[in-house]
Amino acid sequence: MPESTNLHSFSPSRSSQKTAKTTTSTSSRHLLFFTLILPITLASILFRLDPFQPAHFPAEVMSRSIITAPASNDKMRGGSKAMAEGHVEGPEDLVYDAATGFIYTGCSDGWIKRVMVKESAAGDSGVESLVRTEGRPLGVALDRNGDLVVADSDKGLVKVTIREGKIELLTDEVEGLKFKLTDGVDIAEDGTIYFTDASYKYSFNDFMFDILEGKPYGRLISYDPATNLTSLLVSNLYFANGVAVSPDQQFVIFCETILRRCRKYYIKGPKKGSIEKFVENMPGYPDNIHYDGEGLYWIALSSSPTYSWQLALRYPIIRKAVARIVKYVGKPDMEKNGGAVSVDLEGNLKAHYYDAHFSLISSAIKIGNHLYCGSLHYPFIIRLDLNKYPALPTAAAA
Ligand SMILES: *[C@@H]1O[C@H](CO)[C@@H](O)[C@H](O)[C@H]1NC(C)=O
Repeated sequence: MPESTNLHSFSPSRSSQKTAKTTTSTSSRHLLFFTLILPITLASILFRLDPFQPAHFPAEVMSRSIITAPASNDKMRGGSKAMAEGHVEGPEDLVYDAATGFIYTGCSDGWIKRVMVKESAAGDSGVESLVRTEGRPLGVALDRNGDLVVADSDKGLVKVTIREGKIELLTDEVEGLKFKLTDGVDIAEDGTIYFTDASYKYSFNDFMFDILEGKPYGRLISYDPATNLTSLLVSNLYFANGVAVSPDQQFVIFCETILRRCRKYYIKGPKKGSIEKFVENMPGYPDNIHYDGEGLYWIALSSSPTYSWQLALRYPIIRKAVARIVKYVGKPDMEKNGGAVSVDLEGNLKAHYYDAHFSLISSAIKIGNHLYCGSLHYPFIIRLDLNKYPALPTAAAA
């Protein structure tokens, strides 16, 4: 530990000597020294010696404006049901297999599970544990054979053959740099797998430090199962997260959580290889994105841009202080208003479902008239009847 080494060379600072001189009684001087001056001096020395150096976000990427969806339901929790409660711990991403009626998800205990979707709500009898990645499975996608491709934050991109319960590593590095936080994944019709490495520096357990450091360690990557080739598509991303191939197969949308935006990366046509904006200034920090087959993308929002997060993102010194709190005390509660937005094919916000009491909602998929949400820490899948609890015009409230 560099901190304990440096403590030996500690000498009282000028300010503490000056204060000591003006204090007359020896005992009160000692008291003042040990209760106030010493701790503050040590803390400020440790703070300055801390090698963790957050960066300023470039002004051109860090926007402060926030757009409002034309329709919203801000009391989403009220109508929601807990599905498979107690059987799925932190079901981060969800994918639905219409052929079998199962939702597949990856849990915090490393298990890939599936939950039978029934018309009546929260049955927990239909939960099956399939295979354990022994890592932390995040993004999930189904390939043409009905097998599951999993972005496992610890292991890399893995394939789960559902019928045999077999697990196989597809790739875990690109251009000589290992993935550290494999995160979102989707598969194009031609079989190419698109996925993100949210950070090549910080692992899933340390994801807060990536966000607090404020440097672009994220990457958008592709893997071609026909050739086993892994290709780096875009680098220098700020926490690259969810991925969705467009229904016309022309581009891939990828979300950058910290920047509250999702952009397009063209995979076909004259614009191939170029990046365009899709949706910016979102009313929250985007996680996974899924297309519903009916003209809308559903993007999970882990939190609204709360005052504390906006302040932290603006000032590196605040992020440094938060990083110390995370390291020595635990992650502070800085998230609220978790939920999801629906966005049309042109990137226009259509509806926003959220709740002040929800945080770290990480995925949203629409099946029939229901919205199903996964999260980083709830022990259930959230299920909302969109007919019973619709988003209503926001105009009056705005
Ligand atoms: C891809 O990798 C698999 C598993 O390692 C191997 O069986 C297969 O031959 C490889 N394909 C190509 C085209 O290299």
